[in-house]
Amino acid sequence: MTSREKLGPSTDVHLLYQEAVQSPEVDVRLIDRHYKKLAGKPARLFREDFCGTAALSCAWIELGADRKAIAVDLHAPTLAWGKKNNLAKLSIEQRTRIDLVRSDVRKISRPRVDIVCALNFSYCVFKQRRDMLDYVKNARRSLNPGGMLFMDMWGGSESQTEHRDRTRRRGFIYIWEQRSFDPISFHADCRIHFEFPDGRLRRNAFTYDWRLWTLPELRDIFEEAGLKDIHVLWETSDKNGRGTGVYRRMERTSAEESWVACLVGRA
Ligand SMILES: C[S@@+](CC[C@H](N)C(=O)[O-])C[C@H]1O[C@@H](n2cnc3c(N)ncnc32)[C@H](O)[C@@H]1O
Repeated sequence: MTSREKLGPSTDVHLLYQEAVQSPEVDVRLIDRHYKKLAGKPARLFREDFCGTAALSCAWIELGADRKAIAVDLHAPTLAWGKKNNLAKLSIEQRTRIDLVRSDVRKISRPRVDIVCALNFSYCVFKQRRDMLDYVKNARRSLNPGGMLFMDMWGGSESQTEHRDRTRRRGFIYIWEQRSFDPISFHADCRIHFEFPDGRLRRNAFTYDWRLWTLPELRDIFEEAGLKDIHVLWETSDKNGRGTGVYRRMERTSAEESWVACLVGRA
């Protein structure tokens, strides 16, 4: 749900966030294609956990008239922003196919869905293994037979350091700061700042008190939660080491400073 309006220091932070870190139309196409490949048929009902402004669910709805979405988040003001700004861009008919639900993602398991999706690493809010296991078990219970849990992950040597990344976006610079990383607990204090051409800075627009999970840890949790056909989609890189946005199912790969991947399991 990227907007074409001019973005500047007075733009709403949710719009800046969407422009900086989300590509919902690209993401839903990847998820839709992957489900179809695994299940041999298209998915209809999609659940977006930690949905924030529900941008991904809106993109899902736009895939076709037979698509429905449930978007779940704890934070009422963010859901309200999504309703007013993202759902409002859908047609009246499209809006009837999307449900915004204010709930803890561990407390909702009905109706059963074809896909449960958690993007932008939001599950890192769970710092204890038992909480993460509860979440994944609940996601598995929420799936129709053959349904898919789809989560993105990030890692690499840089993810275990304190660092800042600056990325140019339309009208501003998006700054991802990992202010601290504790190698004992893997707890990370992460921040998003926005810097504008006139030098103004929107510091700490978003802050995350997260635990960085490793792929083998999450794979084990998926297995313990009863998921099957657990596999990794790895983002390929170009010759300069930059992510291409193309994901391949991989069993093995080599070390990278910074990587993004998706972890998939089926009910
Ligand atoms: C990083 S934002 C993710 C937004 C969006 N999913 C994306 O892809 O960019 C994390 C969201 O998770 C929500 N959240 C955190 N813990 C939650 C929980 N236990 N249940 C439901 N939502 C939760 C927060 O309110 C916040 O909106």
